[in-house]
Parts: sequence; structure tokens; C-alpha cells
Amino acid sequence: MELRLSTCILLVLCVTSSANGGNVLVWYTEGSHWINMKPVLETLVDRGHQVTVLVPSSSMYMNTNEPARFHYEPFNVTFSLEAMEEFLEEFLQFSVYEIDYMSYWELYIRFTDMMKANLRFSIQYLDGVVKSEAIMTKLKEGNYDLLLADPIYPGSDLVADILGIPLVFSLRFSLANNWERHCGQMPAPPSFVPGAMSKLTDKMDFSERVWNFLFYALQDITIDHTFWNVLDRYYSDVKGTPTSACELMSKADIWLIRTYWDFEFPRPFLPNFKYVGGIHCRPAKPLPEDLEEFVQSSGDDGIVIFTLGSVISNVTKEKANMIASGLAQIPQKVLWRYRGEKPETLGANTQIYDWIPQNDLLGHPKARAFITHGGTNGIYEAIYHGVPMVGIPVFGDQPDNMVHMKAKGAAVIFNLNFMTSEDLRDAINTVINDKSYKENVMRLSSIHHDRPMSALEEAVFWIEFTLRNKGAKHLRVQAHELTWYQYLSLDVLGFFFTIVLLIIFIFIKTCSFCWHRCCVRRGKTKRKAE
Ligand SMILES: *[C@@H]1O[C@H](CO)[C@@H](O)[C@H](O)[C@H]1NC(C)=O
Ligand SMILES: *[C@@H]1O[C@H](CO)[C@@H](O)[C@H](O)[C@H]1NC(C)=O
Repeated sequence: MELRLSTCILLVLCVTSSANGGNVLVWYTEGSHWINMKPVLETLVDRGHQVTVLVPSSSMYMNTNEPARFHYEPFNVTFSLEAMEEFLEEFLQFSVYEIDYMSYWELYIRFTDMMKANLRFSIQYLDGVVKSEAIMTKLKEGNYDLLLADPIYPGSDLVADILGIPLVFSLRFSLANNWERHCGQMPAPPSFVPGAMSKLTDKMDFSERVWNFLFYALQDITIDHTFWNVLDRYYSDVKGTPTSACELMSKADIWLIRTYWDFEFPRPFLPNFKYVGGIHCRPAKPLPEDLEEFVQSSGDDGIVIFTLGSVISNVTKEKANMIASGLAQIPQKVLWRYRGEKPETLGANTQIYDWIPQNDLLGHPKARAFITHGGTNGIYEAIYHGVPMVGIPVFGDQPDNMVHMKAKGAAVIFNLNFMTSEDLRDAINTVINDKSYKENVMRLSSIHHDRPMSALEEAVFWIEFTLRNKGAKHLRVQAHELTWYQYLSLDVLGFFFTIVLLIIFIFIKTCSFCWHRCCVRRGKTKRKAE
């Protein structure tokens, strides 16, 4: 009897919770983007929502065999995982070792080539969803209430449009902020908002402002030609009517930007843009015994944590030796995540690991410095725990990220291709012994923690808000409906200009008429009198 009663109560609870919960569809993504998405999805499940994640058959990071509390919806793509890995390898080779030795022109050509290749992969992913009748039928019959997407892989806006459901983006950045500026209508005056990947700060002198202005313009032209053109054709083809991909992107209800004011330079933004940097950050857990023992053996000197991220797991032998010999010269113990051959110059104070619990190490009381490639996830963990950084940025947003940290006095930066082991040693000593670095990163940490709710809670709040209110179009600025000359009030200025011209014209005409009447008449009368 009692058992039946509790089963009944349980059933009622389940039914009501799923009735309150939304049905959320999640767009596929990769790498660090997936690391950021996962805690949000887990929290959504905890709060009674149903979560379904689209996963391509060739995925490097999304592992459908891993036990997860959300549902996976696999779809087929035509390229192999090897093709993707090959592309990534080529991209890394270019970004890590070649880029510093190229002329601007060579760099531009290679970069646009890479962008095009990347877009070809993106289109093949997208084919697997929108061109698969089986998947589209499943999505339509799935009765989803919302699509959550990292737009780094395009097409989520197209699918949200086809399904007629609200769309929430989770985004770190786009090239030169092109998507945010053009499709999101986010204001970005080039005089004080540095373009993403420009490596500039918000304090620009005249020549930097010239460069930033050109940077926006050149990137916009390039992105128009290599990205929007292709997508517009694809979207038009799928929908059967001329469609602007940027316009579909602009329909997103909420943009969750994965940074915050501990990291960003202050800038204008819109009511549907929410800054939720540090979603994945959490308190440190105790370390495994062997690690804890090594960490404790460092004594008062403490430890240095070194990783170049999940994508760059090794470097050339020469670079590895240079790094190892730099690390050998510091008094701290070093935990280095590295998957290459053991460098000959490795010091007794340095241990190499295939994988390290980065967050738990950064949160350890003995953590003194973090040597990082400057990925946003790692930087946020360092900010969360207040650990000064030595940056060796490589690609994407990494150089920019480190510029932000340097400008805020929490990091020093090096280039892997030009640094020496002495540079590395001195840099580590500087961020540890010069107290300003620790103070500055602690200030950022305090800003990070001092907010009404955590980044994760805020991200989940806005997703639930969009679910409850069936969209968030009331936050969408009217700028989306204006042409560029209306937006800049050029038509109004033109109108005023015309009026001023008209007044001047009338004034001149009147003057010349009066002059004619007075002087010419008088002249005539004079002549008559003679
Ligand atoms: C993917 O391909 C496999 C093997 O060809 C097939 O059995 C499966 O139905 C396909 N899945 C979808 C969603 O089309
Ligand atoms: C890094 O490891 C990969 C895979 O093991 C290998 O293909 C690549 O050549 C290595 N890179 C360097 C720079 O040693």
C-alpha cells in the first residue's frame, strides 16, 4: 500500500516536472565550445527540462558513448573524422609554426583559404541535418520549445526558423565581431571597441584607431565574400526563397556571450546580450593522492601549472627542450600537461602528465602561476581562483584574450616562436614575485564573484526566461528593421542639409532680387534723369 502510494507520488512528481520543464534542442559543437555548453545542459536537466543534443557521426569531442543525462540525436555526415583531424593538424601547423614568418598578404590568403575549408566542413555538417529527411522529420515531431546553439557551426538559425521555435545563442566571439555587429546590431564604435582578433585594447592612439577602423572594414568585406555569400545561397536553396543568413541570425532571442566585465573592456551592448563568462568554473575538488603529494613537496615555493590546451597536446622537440630548460630554473614545482616525447632538459622539479585536473590545481592553495595558451576556459579558471598568468597564445581568440589579461595587469605574454628559456624563467619569476600581478588577478577574481547570480545560473535563467515567455523579442532593438542610412540618420542629416541649402538659396535669391530692384532701378532712374 505504502509502496503504491509513493510510486503514485513519484509518478505525479515526474509528470508535473516534465510538464513544467521545456523541451530543449541543442546544436552540435566541438572542443572548448562543448566544454562550455555541457554544464548548462546538465543544469537544465537538473531543473526538469528535457535536453536533446544533435551530434554528428564524426565528432572529435562529443562522445555519445559517455554516460550523459541528456539525450543524443546522432546524424550522419559524409566526411570522416580523419579528414577533420587532418584539417585541424594543418590549421595548427599554420597557427603555431608558420604564421609568424608570413607576409601580411600570404597570411591573408592562407587565412581565407582556411576559412573557406572550415565553411565547407560546416556545410557538410549542416547537410547532415537539413538535407536529411529522417532528421528533419524527427526534429519537427520532437515538439521542441527552444533551440540552444553555439553559432560557431552555422545553420542553427535556419533550423529554428524552419521549426518556428525561439533561439538562444551561446557565443564567445566572431571574427571582428561581425556577427554581433551586423546580425545582432550590437554597437561597436571602432574608436574604443577593438575588433576581435585585432590584439588591441580599448585605449588606442590615432594610428591604432586607424588600424582598428580598417580592420573592421577589411574583415567585413572578407567575411561577406567568403562566408555570408555562401550561406545566403545555401539558406535560399533550402528555404526556396531568397534568404539572408545574417537576417535569420538576427532573429535570435538571446545572445549569451561567454565573457564578463572581469575580462572585457567596457563597451555598449543591447538588452538581449547577456555576459555569462565563466559558466564552467567551480570550486576545486581534492586532488588524487599522488598529485597532492607532489604538490605538497613544493613547500612554500608552491606550484606552477602549465598547459597549452586540449588542442595543442605537443610541440616540436626543440621547443619542448627550450620550455623544459626554462622550467628547470625556477624554485617552484611544475605540473606540465604534455603528450610528446620526454624532453632531455626536463628538470627534477617538473612532472609531465597526459592530463591534469586543471581547475582543481588552479584552486589549490599552493598554486602560484598558470602558464597557458590563453583559451577563454583556462583564463576564466585562473580568474575564478585568482592565479596570475604567463600567456603563450597560439590561435583564434587566444592572442586577444592574453592582451586583455595583460592590459589588466594579470599576465605577461610570449610568442612560442621567439621566446627563450630565459624569457620563460624570468616571466614566471615576475608574475610570482612582483606582487602587483597577484593583486590585479585577485581584483578580477573579486569582480568575477561579486554578481547577483553565478554565470551558470544567469545563462540558465535566460534560457528558462525564453522558454517561459516563448521568446524574448521584446528585447530586440528596432535597429534590425532600419537600413544602414536610416540607422546612421543619414536620411535625416540629408533632409536638414537640404533645408539649409534651400534657406541659403532663398536668401541669395532674395538678396539678388533686392539688389536688382534697388541698385539697378536706381541706375535706370539716374540714367533717365540725365
Ligand atoms: C546513418 O547511417 C547509418 C548507416 O548507413 C544508417 O543506418 C542510419 O539510419 C543513418 N542515420 C540517419 C539519422 O540518417
Ligand atoms: C604531435 O603529435 C601528433 C600525434 O601524435 C603528431 O602527428 C605530430 O607530428 C606531433 N607534433 C609535433 C610538433 O611533434
